This record gives sequence, C-alpha cells and structure tokens, in this order.
Amino acid sequence: MKILVIAAHPQLNASRANKAFLKGLSKYSQDIHVHDLYQLYPNWIIDVEKEQQLLLQYDRIVLQFPFYWYSCPPLLKKWLEEVMAHGWAYGPGGDQLIGKEFLVATTTGGTEKAYRSGGDNQFTISEFLRPLERTITRCNGTYLPAFVSYAVMTATDETLAEEAIRYAEHIRTPLPVLVH
Ligand SMILES: Cc1cc2nc3c(=O)[nH]c(=O)nc-3n(C[C@H](O)[C@H](O)[C@H](O)COP(=O)(O)O)c2cc1C
Repeated sequence: MKILVIAAHPQLNASRANKAFLKGLSKYSQDIHVHDLYQLYPNWIIDVEKEQQLLLQYDRIVLQFPFYWYSCPPLLKKWLEEVMAHGWAYGPGGDQLIGKEFLVATTTGGTEKAYRSGGDNQFTISEFLRPLERTITRCNGTYLPAFVSYAVMTATDETLAEEAIRYAEHIRTPLPVLVH
C-alpha cells in the first residue's frame, strides 16, 4: 500500500511530537512519502494541479497536524479548499477520489480524559474532526479511524518515541483491521 503523508505544522523546527513522528516514518520511505505543506509552500500559493496529481498516485492519504483551536492549521484548510475542487473531488465529474483512504493523525496538548463529555474540552476528538470527516466522505473518500496522540506537550522523549512507533503502525494497518 502506497501512503502519502500530508504534514502541516506551522513551525516544524520547534515541534517535538510531529517531528518525532515524521522521523519515525523515515525507515518506511519505500511505501510512505512525506509531503510537508509549510515547507513546500512558504508563500501559501498552492500548486493545485500538482497536488491533485500527487493524490492520484497513492492508496491512502494521511493528514498529519498538531491540533490547533480544535481544528487543523490554516494552510491545511486552504489546501483542502483548493485541492478538493468542484468537478474534480465532488460534483459533476468529481470522481477522482472514489475509494481512496484518508486518515487524520493529530497531536493534542489536552489529555485524553479532557476530550470526552464532562471533560475540560467537553467533546471527543472524533466529534471535533467531523468537518474533516464529512469533507472526505463528501469527496467520495473512505474516512478511517484517526490516530491521536494526546498530551504531547508533557510527554517525555521516550514516550514520544513510543508514540512514533504506534503512529507508523496505525497508518500502515490495513482497513479491515483498523475498522473492526
Ligand atoms: C495556536 C495553538 C492552538 C492550539 N490549540 C489546541 C487545542 O485546541 N487543543 C489542544 O489540545 N491543544 C492545542 N494546542 C496545543 C498543540 O496541539 C500542541 O502544541 C501540539 O500538538 C504539539 O505538537 P508539536 O510538538 O509537534 O508542536 C494549540 C497550540 C497552539 C500553538
């Protein structure tokens, strides 16, 4: 399975978690290609056609980002708005992503306990990710269970290294195993 990781971290240099996770993927470079949006598009002018052609080459697309204000960082939002275009990803003739697998991978400052009814953040991550989920299904993609690494800001380097292994395993897991 060929996997494309769309990485969107506004300050990857200052990152601990997302940087560790991307480093953990380097040994799978045969099957996993990392596409760093903030590095590729410092002026935020996205080459839409190039991005669309890239998506076509992969079976599974992972959207990896730090959770910012209960959502994704803005360049990824812009990327979705432009790349998931009418007539290409949805609407008449918009059939290019049919059957393609999509998976969100995110890191949070909040603890897992905070992300539930009655917890500090009141809602689960799955609830916060609904707009992304529906964007994918609206574009005929298959939305897979997300990978979430909680409370990364207080995690030790050792824990982050373990989480990086869990991340690589999650995104390489075949659909039937992930969903059952
Ligand atoms: C602008 C901003 C908004 C954030 N919003 C949230 C949030 O809504 N929920 C949360 O749990 N953490 C939030 N955080 C914490 C980040 O998720 C956390 O810093 C990030 O996952 C750490 O990953 P990194 O080490 O790769 O930078 C926010 C951080 C920043 C800078």
